[in-house]
Amino acid sequence: MRFLSSRASRLLTMALLIASVFSLHFHTPDQRWLPATLVLLCYLSFCLHTVLRHRSQQSGRSGQLQASENGILVVYASQTGFAEKLARKTAQDLQQGGSTATVLAIGRMDGAVLQSAKRVLFIVSTTGEGDAPDSAAEFCQRWLGKPLSMPEMHYAILALGDRRYQHFCAFAHRLEHWLQQQQAQPLFDMTEVDNGDATALQRWQQHLRQLGAATAQSEWQAPAFQDWILAERHLMNPDSLGDPVYRIALTPPDPRIRWHAGDIAEIAPGFSPTNDLQMTAEVQPSLPHRAYSISSLPADGKLELLVRQMRQPDGSLGIGSGWLTASAPVGSHIQLRLRENRHFHTPPHDCPLILIGNGTGLAGLRAHLKQRALHGHVRNCLFFGERQRLRDFFHREEIQSWHNSGVLPALHLCFSRDQSERRYVQHALAEQASAVREWVREGAVIMVCGSMRGMAEQVHATLNTILGEQQVNKMLAEGSYRRDVY
Ligand SMILES: Cc1cc2nc3c(=O)[nH]c(=O)nc-3n(C[C@H](O)[C@H](O)[C@H](O)COP(=O)(O)OP(=O)(O)OC[C@H]3O[C@@H](n4cnc5c(N)ncnc54)[C@H](O)[C@@H]3O)c2cc1C
Ligand SMILES: Cc1cc2nc3c(=O)[nH]c(=O)nc-3n(C[C@H](O)[C@H](O)[C@H](O)COP(=O)(O)O)c2cc1C
Repeated sequence: MRFLSSRASRLLTMALLIASVFSLHFHTPDQRWLPATLVLLCYLSFCLHTVLRHRSQQSGRSGQLQASENGILVVYASQTGFAEKLARKTAQDLQQGGSTATVLAIGRMDGAVLQSAKRVLFIVSTTGEGDAPDSAAEFCQRWLGKPLSMPEMHYAILALGDRRYQHFCAFAHRLEHWLQQQQAQPLFDMTEVDNGDATALQRWQQHLRQLGAATAQSEWQAPAFQDWILAERHLMNPDSLGDPVYRIALTPPDPRIRWHAGDIAEIAPGFSPTNDLQMTAEVQPSLPHRAYSISSLPADGKLELLVRQMRQPDGSLGIGSGWLTASAPVGSHIQLRLRENRHFHTPPHDCPLILIGNGTGLAGLRAHLKQRALHGHVRNCLFFGERQRLRDFFHREEIQSWHNSGVLPALHLCFSRDQSERRYVQHALAEQASAVREWVREGAVIMVCGSMRGMAEQVHATLNTILGEQQVNKMLAEGSYRRDVY
């Protein structure tokens, strides 16, 4: 029976079922034994299919188990892709040193893997306000804080975070606290990484060498910033009640440079080796940087951003947004590097896509709509919120033309200040509850971009009401509900 794949047995079942139905029509009553036999065979074949499917699931899991028992399991929880990238690098260096290392997303850990794994390296970031990345939501709900004896496990944690947030590396600390309660043993102390700090990453590499990894320091360094040209700057919301928002277009240093919708541009403000050579020595090593969602595709020839000009409490311009929207002259060089954000790439298949965002969050969503239009994938729905239709409807003509041409059949705009009561995207989402449920049943992916406070939190609560918390957590773990919020 082993030669029969689960797929083949499913086909066999269907063929027998169809044959049974036909035989009912074409045979006389004394020949009714034929359909009866076919129905019996059909049933047996269905049983075979079920057994084979179960067995294939078991063998997938046992492969994972084997890897974790004999080798090292590298488990990641990532929101914007950095932890995932470091997990792959960690596994690669261990493999180059001769170890068996398997990379696993934290959402795929189950009780059996946790209890059988001997050595586990967790590489986890913290997001929101001390929260676990979205893909870890189900893991947290199922395992964290619950008893699960793991005396066999030896673990280490690479904790990614940023000290400017109040709860530095909070998720990594919650994870460690739980592991210790379950009698897991640390291989070495937690390595905390503040905003990609190179020294901390070198410490992690040293630990990896103790585990037998062949790891070269240079390969772990963040990519260098490059000189891009600030080609265009255009105010998108004259006379707005809110802060000014600019469309920024930058020309790449090399026309062959590629990125995907969903990727991020990191800029190092206030510094250009070409424009200001004096700053090179002191500033380069500790350049502050700011992230911006890319709103165009390489096919557009320019990298576009939507940047809101922020101000410090004393009225001075924000470091990054001020540099892009006011201080850097048009035509000058901007130090920029691309960050791959795989988790937020456009789904490759023609599923329904629900895009939700507010303000400059439209940047990331616009790149997805451009990508979908290019692929001819038209089951798209956009919920967009700003203050006033007249002043804050960014990229109005483009969005209207997508709507009119059928690329964007469902468009829900919420301008909060255009009527007496405030109206936000979460309100439109709640009104469209049955359509959202229907699209999710058809395999929709939901992507949210924009403000974390207010918008993303409210949208999350509304989705919980529409779809149920369990379904929402499942979609987060599977990657069919993705967020790029700040
Ligand atoms: C993944 C990601 C994508 C982003 N995409 C975009 C984008 O497409 N467009 C865009 O305009 N911004 C985007 N941001 C925000 C951007 O990175 C900066 O945080 C923002 O431009 C402010 O930086 P600044 O240096 O100008 O201000 P700072 O000099 O750091 O601070 C100036 C003032 O702004 C406040 N401030 C800083 N950041 C925020 C914030 N996120 N929300 C509210 N107040 C804040 C500070 O408290 C301070 O009062 C994104 C952030 C992330 C993490
Ligand atoms: C919206 C947002 C919220 C964040 N919140 C925290 C936080 O509460 N605590 C922290 O230490 N770091 C926080 N960070 C910093 C990230 O953990 C850090 O950038 C990390 O390198 C991201 O790794 P990832 O790309 O794998 O998610 C936050 C980053 C963003 C963009």
